Amino acid sequence: MGKVFVFDHPLIQHKLTYIRDKKTGTKEFRELVDEVGSLMAFEITRELPLEEVEIETPVQKATSKVLAGKKLGLVPILRAGIGMVDGMLKLIPAAKVGHIGLYRDPKTLQPVEYYVKLPSDIEERDFIVVDPMLATGGSAVAAINSLKTRGATSIRFMCLIAAPEGVDALKEAHPDVDIYIAALDEKLNEKGYIVPGLGDAGDRLFGTM
Ligand code: PRP
Ligand code: URA
Repeated sequence: MGKVFVFDHPLIQHKLTYIRDKKTGTKEFRELVDEVGSLMAFEITRELPLEEVEIETPVQKATSKVLAGKKLGLVPILRAGIGMVDGMLKLIPAAKVGHIGLYRDPKTLQPVEYYVKLPSDIEERDFIVVDPMLATGGSAVAAINSLKTRGATSIRFMCLIAAPEGVDALKEAHPDVDIYIAALDEKLNEKGYIVPGLGDAGDRLFGTM
């Protein structure tokens, strides 16, 4: 079963408070989501494998470490996932970026896929699917289905805020996928919004309220 990791780093928790606050405007919201994207990228890459290489410093020969293993692929779920990608790329600039476009039908809350563009070397990459919100889990489950159908075998999911309902749905549908979050909130409301959450992530990020 997929494991759930909560990034409780004080900087992440501090910035998340201002992301949640309804007084935070679009510009600041965008900057904070970008910053938390970087901080979460730092945490999620903690276990990346290393290998030793021989180098020569100005002083003498030395053995030192560089990243090894599969290359990374980031897959933001459009729209709101885009807000976290630039921050992540600041730390892992060589990652390739795929995009999966999904929106939730406001009545049924079911995800509707409208766009998929992924790196061509899918089998050779470790993917991190990114979206600020894991609510019912429908969008994350559908995005990961889409990736797996096209050949991805190594996938993790990262978001800012998750509802227990979304975590359960994702674990059930994709038990091989570990989940990385900044906060696990209380519940969903009758409209499928996370409580207390941050409202509509895409609208707050792009100013379309
Ligand atoms: C939001 C959010 C997730 C989805 C989460 O996107 O960014 O993709 O809802 O909800 P779920 O877990 O219940 O599927 P939305 O559908 O509002 O689309 P948008 O990013 O285009 O605004
Ligand atoms: N999508 C959002 O943007 N916010 C929520 O609370 C739930 C789904």
